[in-house]
Amino acid sequence: MTRKIETADTLREEIKRLTAAYYHARFGAAVEKEAESPITNVNYAGRVFDEKELVSLVDSSLDFWLTEGRYTREFEKKFKAFLGLEYALPVNSGSSANLLALTALTSGLLGKKRLKKGNEVITVAAGFPTTVNPIIQNGLVPVFVDVEQGNYNILVEQAKRAITTETRAIMLAHTLGNPFCIEKIMKLAQEYDLWVVEDCCDALGSTYKGRKLGTFGHVSTFSFYPAHHITTGEGGMVCTQDPVIAKAVRSFRDWGRDCWCAGGQNGSCGCRYTRQYGELPLGYDHKYVYSHIGYNLKMTDMQAAIGSAQMDKLPAFIERRKENFRAWEKGFKPWEAYFVLPAAEPDSDPAWFAYPVTVKEAAGFSRTEFTDYLNQKGVETRNLFAGNMVKQPAYLHTEKRIVGNLENTDVIMERTFFLGTYPGLTPAKISYVLDCVKAFFAEKKIVKQP
Ligand SMILES: Cc1ncc(COP(=O)(O)O)c(C=O)c1O
Repeated sequence: MTRKIETADTLREEIKRLTAAYYHARFGAAVEKEAESPITNVNYAGRVFDEKELVSLVDSSLDFWLTEGRYTREFEKKFKAFLGLEYALPVNSGSSANLLALTALTSGLLGKKRLKKGNEVITVAAGFPTTVNPIIQNGLVPVFVDVEQGNYNILVEQAKRAITTETRAIMLAHTLGNPFCIEKIMKLAQEYDLWVVEDCCDALGSTYKGRKLGTFGHVSTFSFYPAHHITTGEGGMVCTQDPVIAKAVRSFRDWGRDCWCAGGQNGSCGCRYTRQYGELPLGYDHKYVYSHIGYNLKMTDMQAAIGSAQMDKLPAFIERRKENFRAWEKGFKPWEAYFVLPAAEPDSDPAWFAYPVTVKEAAGFSRTEFTDYLNQKGVETRNLFAGNMVKQPAYLHTEKRIVGNLENTDVIMERTFFLGTYPGLTPAKISYVLDCVKAFFAEKKIVKQP
């Protein structure tokens, strides 16, 4: 009997076929079982994937290329096409994307426009720490402005009043996917010649006047942590239309090097041994010339392989998030007397990261009482991240300027929470949560209008 000699290609196809079968046995069956079981817990977020992500991941692992490679290029291409931008640079997290986006603006490549130590950057204290941390990490000064209740985004008039001769940039997240008033912020930026960094980590696919967030500011960032619109496990992206910013981001991301040859490529920059840099000898290998004090924040090809498969699902994911938000809107409407319900920015269509709710002061119960009740019923809730960041231990003694008394930010810290909108949330799960809400009011005998 002759033994069939298997080639790497035929083995790869067999492994891919088995991987898809494995997905159905390991994960598909679990999804079906969960759908048939009574609901006892509801997560606020989670990765949503099928055999395509698993096959893509295994396919990439079989290359054993590991660093930036064919899947990274594919993922970048899909992301750029989705946003309609020229540059999309994959990184290892949304936090790294924020660090790179702002640090790029300190690059000497920008000449007089570069950010310098001591310059002020306008931001908000109601949000995620790593939107603000790059400001501090770069020796810049965060200027904290208050936010609007129910919309959780910056008060633009207050931002305008906060501008001084030291102000050089605005760095803000679109809170939970709801756009901040990007048009007014861009106008302000134009008027005062400021950089704008759009943190879109929670806002992939949200639009303002039909245009995608992340395409307005000078540079924008995205996160692919599992709670987000798509996932690569850990991962993020920095996007821009500006070739100089893109060059600076790439350099800071890749150890600070000057050369733009991709990993494993030699001499594609066309100037490997011909130029003189700094005080190095003429012709010093460009591969080892460093023009920035950089990091290594690159994404691996296996992460990109998952991301590329997730991009194909993104339009459907966005629709599911919108549907789930609408279901919460309908379900919470009867309790509006007790809660401040979220409002989308006018002219926007958010791909909501979450459904944020603030317990009214006169509700007769606290946020903690309410979320503790839901959590005991297996319903996950989250606070709006850091609440009021300036009251967090890490920020108490950092250099900063605070505008006004951040009273709405304090309300968020004390009384706001959110529920998920992720695509894994089914109508049955939403209905379970709404039954729990009803039971809370019944058990606590809270029936009067506050
Ligand atoms: C608004 C915002 N910015 C940045 C980040 C950081 O992203 P990552 O967890 O990928 O570092 C998050 C994380 O959830 C976020 O919500």
